[in-house]
Amino acid sequence: MASSIENKTSQTWGGRFNEATDAFVQEFTASYSFDNVLAQYDIAGSRAHASMLGACGIISDDDVQTIMQGLDQISREIENGEFTWAVELEDVHMNIEARLTELVGDAGKRLHTGRSRNDQVATDIRLYLREAIGRILEQLARLQLGLIDQAERYAETIMPGFTHLQVAQPVTFGHHLLAWNEMLTRDAGRLKDCRNRLNQCPLGAAALAGTSYPIDRDMTSAALGFEQPTRNSLDSVSDRDFAIEFTAAASITMMHLSRMAEEMILWTSAQFRLVELPDRFCTGSSIMPQKKNPDVPELVRGKAGRVQGHLVALITLMKGQPLAYNKDNQEDKEPLFDSVKTLYDSILAFADLIPAIEARPTEMRAAAQLGQPTATDLADYLVKRGLPFRDAHEVVGGAVALAEQRGIDLSELSLEELVDLSDLISDDVYDILTLEGSVAARNHTGGTAPEQVRQAAKAARAELG
Ligand code: ARG
Repeated sequence: MASSIENKTSQTWGGRFNEATDAFVQEFTASYSFDNVLAQYDIAGSRAHASMLGACGIISDDDVQTIMQGLDQISREIENGEFTWAVELEDVHMNIEARLTELVGDAGKRLHTGRSRNDQVATDIRLYLREAIGRILEQLARLQLGLIDQAERYAETIMPGFTHLQVAQPVTFGHHLLAWNEMLTRDAGRLKDCRNRLNQCPLGAAALAGTSYPIDRDMTSAALGFEQPTRNSLDSVSDRDFAIEFTAAASITMMHLSRMAEEMILWTSAQFRLVELPDRFCTGSSIMPQKKNPDVPELVRGKAGRVQGHLVALITLMKGQPLAYNKDNQEDKEPLFDSVKTLYDSILAFADLIPAIEARPTEMRAAAQLGQPTATDLADYLVKRGLPFRDAHEVVGGAVALAEQRGIDLSELSLEELVDLSDLISDDVYDILTLEGSVAARNHTGGTAPEQVRQAAKAARAELG
């Protein structure tokens, strides 16, 4: 019979095992190759935990000091790429703990008192994600500022507004850019909500039931900048809502970036030619010398799919798990980390790109002129002269048919032709049939008039702070 302190497997938990882990199982269950991203957060958590153990008299002050020195060194080793990761040590937590013991001896072995990898990893991911959201929000604000600047620059530039991708009514390019900004404002709000909700500290939940040591959870929570400790130990180690919420918010943001991308791709095509992207954001073709492809927007559009996939992966990961912790949860990391990176990179790419895009006002104006875009203005004109809207719609339908038949714009019909259709029309009709008249008339909150665009841009800038 083996004595209880003899460890035949040399593994962290080897005490109760009679043979070493199968080599493939070791590889299969290991996570250090991807969860090493959490290393510095793991060290921060360990520092807080060790200080608390010391303050509560659970380990000695000497041990605390020794542990802190060891952790400092490990932090430097990891930062400088000098840390040796071992597959036998499975994950980031055990790799760091084993190195600590190697460096400082018994004090290192006391660090895990009153703690489990279950509350440890839950804490690490929250710390990681809290910081990641902060970095993402910074890039998002930079992108939004770029949109607002461009909106002001193009507050009067007329472009076609589309519904069904058919020219509907003229709008200003600035108005369109501010529509994008609205989408991103909601995204920032969702990310902040997610960050607020995740800002609770699971440390102290231990494996699942809490710990028998006289710990102070408020202390570790405050040391790590959390708002408060989590309230239920079982929930603390089993909850991954924050990863799902983040990935959901990221999916929506990527969906928005993808729609922006799609529009830029359309607008830069030879058939639209509304916008020019600088060469540094495009690539050429290996076979067709004339090509300038909008690769950056295309890639962002493509990457939206993988983040949406990660959301489905995470929500499916959680749906069948009984409480509390299950090893399934190790699968939360790669989708989450990849969502963070993909979202961050995509926002960064657009934050660089947006200030550099150039509108083509002449082409925009010509495109806006196609397809009788001021027909609604003519109907509104008749309504203001007393005709019921449905009758006005009918009259303008006739005017559109006449103009189309002659291959001209409504504004090019003669006054006689127009009066023939309705004697409510007089020569002031031409003011409202122009593109400028049409956009200027939409001068109310949320409308496309240049004056409104300038006000909205100003408000948006103030809101960004
Ligand atoms: N690497 C593990 C994870 O990511 C850490 C927690 C392991 N806990 C356990 N009881 N096996 O989830």
